[in-house]
Amino acid sequence: MDYLQIIGGTKLSGSINISGAKNSALPVIAATILSDKPVTLTNLPNVVDIRTLLKLLTMLGGSVEQNDTVAVVNNGFMNSTKAVYEIVSQMRASILVLGPLLARFGECEVSLPGGCAIGQRPIDMHLKALEAMGAKIEIKGGYVRAEAPNGLHGAKIVFDKITVGGTENTIMAAALAHGVTTIVNAAKEPEIVQLCEMIAGAGVEIEGIGSSKIVIHGTGQKSLTFKEVEIIPDRIEAGTYLCAAAITQSMITLNKVNAEHIQASIDKLEAMGCSFEIEETSITIKPAQKLKFVDLITTEYPGFPTDMQAQFMAVATIAEGESLIEERLFENRFMHVSELNRLGADIWLKGNIAAVRPVKTLYGADVMATDLRASSALVLAGLIANGVTNVHRIYHLDRGYDNLEGKLSALGANITRLHG
Ligand code: UD1
Repeated sequence: MDYLQIIGGTKLSGSINISGAKNSALPVIAATILSDKPVTLTNLPNVVDIRTLLKLLTMLGGSVEQNDTVAVVNNGFMNSTKAVYEIVSQMRASILVLGPLLARFGECEVSLPGGCAIGQRPIDMHLKALEAMGAKIEIKGGYVRAEAPNGLHGAKIVFDKITVGGTENTIMAAALAHGVTTIVNAAKEPEIVQLCEMIAGAGVEIEGIGSSKIVIHGTGQKSLTFKEVEIIPDRIEAGTYLCAAAITQSMITLNKVNAEHIQASIDKLEAMGCSFEIEETSITIKPAQKLKFVDLITTEYPGFPTDMQAQFMAVATIAEGESLIEERLFENRFMHVSELNRLGADIWLKGNIAAVRPVKTLYGADVMATDLRASSALVLAGLIANGVTNVHRIYHLDRGYDNLEGKLSALGANITRLHG
């Protein structure tokens, strides 16, 4: 199995390009199911999750022609509506095909994703929303079987809790439904905005894009015709490299990035003493003279993202003063704590709060990646640890980081992918 070997202690410098956002590309790819014509997608990141979802489309009878970051997806000849366990178990976000398959074909079967390392992650709100739109849903044999033979109808959906995937599934289903769907307590993430703009670009009237109340005027049509979609920059990848600069006390520049999408991370890094030069599509981070502690609570966009919690914890390990990090979205998203402690960090957990007491230095060791973002926190810690850090189980990293070791090497880090 591949692992990353990092020899800590080098400063970073220079600039890199940020890739397209995995979490935006996933719903955009799922939304192509709403069309029976080819759709061109550009700026796709080269990560395993994207390949997995594209493979799922081909298993359903779609075709994908890909050249580097550009793919033309044609779902005109789809002949299956069953998303099998083999794929969904590899990637939970496959559940995003549920809404569009049901809306376009009037029936589908999608394997239940189950829990994952960071929590139970139910999909009850996705199902309730589709039921409110007229779907008959049954859970049998580990599959969600959904039917709406006469099509879906508009409905008022009030989410009990903000859900990114649930909002996305509902928007996609509502686009082909008959009548108006109103989503109250909708997610406001930039990825939701991109999905809405893609669907609005196909002629579907959508009000309240980017707000917590989205109104979709369903077309009642069988299919949509999409314009080309350019995937937005990955705000989590960008935030991770900002943390790499902060922890190594380096100055680096990120290109092809949208600073507005990472304001919460920028604010926290500023509070820790870093400074920024922000241009329209680039950000330069300058090191803190003395890195200070950080207090943060994860919450929905535009608040501080749970997907950046682990990386900030890595930075906090060597910052001056005790940091308090509270995880509010997922019940088990602290798996990186014990691994960071293996590198010499001093982190204590009480319920969903981690207290990070500063240490003078970290020491290289073998550590194990447990989920996607936890893995990148271990890489960040390895960048400053004395000696050699081997990060194992990096298949988690490969799911969502495009060429992490290549980009970090380009910035001067001593990081190598090894096999064994
Ligand atoms: C998405 C992101 C993920 C990010 C998360 C929160 C993608 C592919 N993934 O995941 O990286 O960490 O948003 O920002 O975009 N919940 C329920 N019932 C549901 C749905 C969700 O209880 O039906 C709960 C979840 O367990 C979690 C919370 O709601 O506690 C938020 O989850 P949600 O926003 O749906 O996350 P994902 O869309 O799975």
